[in-house]
Amino acid sequence: MPVITCIDDLKRLHRKRTPKMFYDYCESGSWTEQTFRENTTDFDRIRLRQRVAVDMEGRSTAAKMIGQDVAMPVALAPVGLTGMQRADGEIRAARAAEQFGVPFTLSTMSICSIEDVAAHTTKPFWFQLYVMRDQDFLKNVIRRAQDAGCSALVLTLDLQILGQRHKDLKNGLSAPPKLTPAVIADLATKWQWGLEMLRTKRRGFGNIIGHAKGVDDPSSLFTWTAQQFDPRLDWSKVEAIRDMWGGPLILKGVMEPEDAVMAAKTGCDAIVVSNHGGRQLDGALSSIRMLPAILDAVGDRVEVHLDSGIRSGQDVLKALAMGAKGTYIGRAFVHGLGAMGEKGVTAALEVIRRELDISMALCGRKSVQEFDRDMLRVPEDFTGRWM
Ligand SMILES: Cc1cc2nc3c(=O)[nH]c(=O)nc-3n(C[C@H](O)[C@H](O)[C@H](O)COP(=O)(O)O)c2cc1C
Repeated sequence: MPVITCIDDLKRLHRKRTPKMFYDYCESGSWTEQTFRENTTDFDRIRLRQRVAVDMEGRSTAAKMIGQDVAMPVALAPVGLTGMQRADGEIRAARAAEQFGVPFTLSTMSICSIEDVAAHTTKPFWFQLYVMRDQDFLKNVIRRAQDAGCSALVLTLDLQILGQRHKDLKNGLSAPPKLTPAVIADLATKWQWGLEMLRTKRRGFGNIIGHAKGVDDPSSLFTWTAQQFDPRLDWSKVEAIRDMWGGPLILKGVMEPEDAVMAAKTGCDAIVVSNHGGRQLDGALSSIRMLPAILDAVGDRVEVHLDSGIRSGQDVLKALAMGAKGTYIGRAFVHGLGAMGEKGVTAALEVIRRELDISMALCGRKSVQEFDRDMLRVPEDFTGRWM
């Protein structure tokens, strides 16, 4: 068993053990990848204030996200094709999250279906919705999430059209992968992945195949998004989905204060400041840079969460100390899954919790409820002066 000290250790193993097509799908942003890069480098610009002679015994990272108890305010973000990083990936990640005590969010574009994940877990998980043109599909998938006991709906607002990620086009991304000579040569060095994949029946888009109509190539993410995702999504549709769902609602992908105000007006329970991990609008600012303006715009009207760029417990601490009430990790848990399956997701969560716990102690805090901006040194020009 390799010694895992940080998320980068898991990332290296993920790369070694997972077909290139799926590792690349995870580790890329759109176009020039500027936003993807800045999501992490902007976290590095924020520094911490070391405090001393503060009693640090009896610490806890426990908190609440949208009123639900969490072992730490770090949810697993919805990630499409997780079941291609490792066979039955969504089930493995959901079990690790459940065991750890943090929310797992199942993507609409998952390989394992809602029902499958529900059958293999014992606690409610969250479901992420992409809005499709097909109204019957939309109503049906919301009902399926309700029937499975999902305890929140995460409605993603920033992907009605797919951002271009060059590597996916060059690799011919599909689920399952098409067996071209290049793919076969790559699989020859990833035999454990292949063996596990042969043993599972879950190799297509489990939530939509057999439920949505009229797609030419059901194995292609590009075809699904181009033919099925509804480009007419607007605030009135968001409200209609809120009413259809009738439970806790989280709006994901908000990056500008005016949109945050509109989102808060829907009466949702939380918004997620997110640029989809730099995979959609390249050239957008990092989410950590946009966080202060969004907090100022919405005040206490809605809970504000953040994702994009979190690779450590220190990043979590920075987002929370700035005022976010919750965070999500995408790639950080996928690296764990690709590296070591369920154990790897647990390892990713443990790394993050350890970093969060030690850092908060050294910043003189015993619980996340005590976090505030005094813990940070933020460069004066951090948010920038933009016209
Ligand atoms: C491989 C991959 C697939 C993703 N698929 C989805 C998805 O299906 N639905 C969604 O709302 N967000 C999706 N996202 C975005 C994540 O939910 C999250 O916003 C992002 O990963 C956060 O950035 P991080 O990876 O730097 O933590 C995906 C991200 C990655 C890396």
